[in-house]
Amino acid sequence: GIVTPSTPKETGTTDSYAFAFDIDGVLIRGGRPIPEAIEAMKVLNGQNEYGIKVPYIFLTNGGGKTEQERCVDLSRQLELEISPGQFICGHTPMREMAQKYKTVLVVGGEGEKCRLVAEGYGFKDVVTPGDIMKDNDRTTPFRRLTDQETQNSRVRNFGETEIEAIFVFADSRHWGDDQQIIIDLLTSKNGRLGTRSENYDQGPPIYFSHNDLIWSAAHEHTRLGMGALRSSLEAIYKSITGKDLISTAFGKPQLGTFQFATRLLQQWRKDTHGINKPPETVYFVGDTPESDIRGTNEFNESKLSDNDWYSILVRTGVFKEGTKPRYTPRITVDNVLDAVNHGIKREM
Ligand code: G3P
Ligand code: MG
Repeated sequence: GIVTPSTPKETGTTDSYAFAFDIDGVLIRGGRPIPEAIEAMKVLNGQNEYGIKVPYIFLTNGGGKTEQERCVDLSRQLELEISPGQFICGHTPMREMAQKYKTVLVVGGEGEKCRLVAEGYGFKDVVTPGDIMKDNDRTTPFRRLTDQETQNSRVRNFGETEIEAIFVFADSRHWGDDQQIIIDLLTSKNGRLGTRSENYDQGPPIYFSHNDLIWSAAHEHTRLGMGALRSSLEAIYKSITGKDLISTAFGKPQLGTFQFATRLLQQWRKDTHGINKPPETVYFVGDTPESDIRGTNEFNESKLSDNDWYSILVRTGVFKEGTKPRYTPRITVDNVLDAVNHGIKREM
């Protein structure tokens, strides 16, 4: 029909580009939205001068809850509906390991949450540090389980249990105790607690959901992350055994994580926007050069990506003005709103 000034402008969704967002330091800091984040989301949803909508997904190294629960939190914080179909966290790709191992130790996060996440992924037999401390309270000389922790922990005889792999799902809340238990397993014979391997052959394999040394939380300076726990474990393991710890990290900057994101974005664009072709450009907005910018650039340069992954670094998180980022983004902007506006303008 005839468009009159009083008729709202018909909005369309672009099929030629998309956005992917890091969360901590870009959209959220210390559990609160970064001021420009809410506006940035509105712009993507059509409140821009062209009236165009842009599809987007979220790709965080964080975790500790089910994807469903994280999306509920994020929807509340950003004042819009976010679906698990557009969300990947550090441990999401670990679901592909559920068939490989039977009994696994899951470390990190609050209370029982990570055990539930792992079980939701299909892991059959999930042990937590609490279960081990409940079975043998001499495991950690300086910590006793609280009543709540004792209640959550499951009774089991670890003398008869072989733990096949260790998964660090989320940031540890008790570094010292968790490290003690991890070292006990790494130096055990085949993952049987209470035993010691003769030549210090490494016990079960260990996987981390990401490798961020530092991250951006409420404090003015960055905080130690899971990568710091990993470095510290490597150092302890080396001092004790004289050997190098063999471990694997998921999350950004791993190329597999970006491949996972490509598949998710493709599915999301198809299911919610009816778009059946890959985008020409994916704008990735992140605050950590070592994870976000490195991953985006390396994925873009690899043969694995068939579109242009365009890295945008913001100044609201880990990266601080005055330093040179270790990995160079295509552009650096002040915040996520500037990042969104930059991408949209570049496409017009
Ligand atoms: O623990 C989370 C943190 O290391 C990174 O989260 O959203 O910045 O990838 P994000
Ligand atoms: Mg971040």
